[in-house]
Amino acid sequence: MNSHKSPSIKVAVNKGKTYYWCGCGLSQKQPFCDGAHKNDSHGQKPVTYTALADKFISFCTCKKTQLPPICDGSHKVDCLTNNANDCDVISGDSKVSSLNKTLI
Ligand code: FES
Repeated sequence: MNSHKSPSIKVAVNKGKTYYWCGCGLSQKQPFCDGAHKNDSHGQKPVTYTALADKFISFCTCKKTQLPPICDGSHKVDCLTNNANDCDVISGDSKVSSLNKTLI
């Protein structure tokens, strides 16, 4: 589904700016939507995230997070069970209560 090597990508977000996180894993511009979901039969759509402050956010790219679009460390389960080599980025933002996200 996702060919990106890192389970998350840290991005500097700007207060008030809206970002469209790819939920389907098909985008070539991870972690953000590039419209590729329109060719997917699973009905996945991007998740809207509006930054409430200027800060760094670790966006999930493994698409297993339970707190989309933020990396919640769910990729670590695969790292432990599959002995994967691409699991060196372990980060997340626990301030999910400040998220303003909706499906579009
Ligand atoms: S390309 Fe994945 S949600 Fe749009």
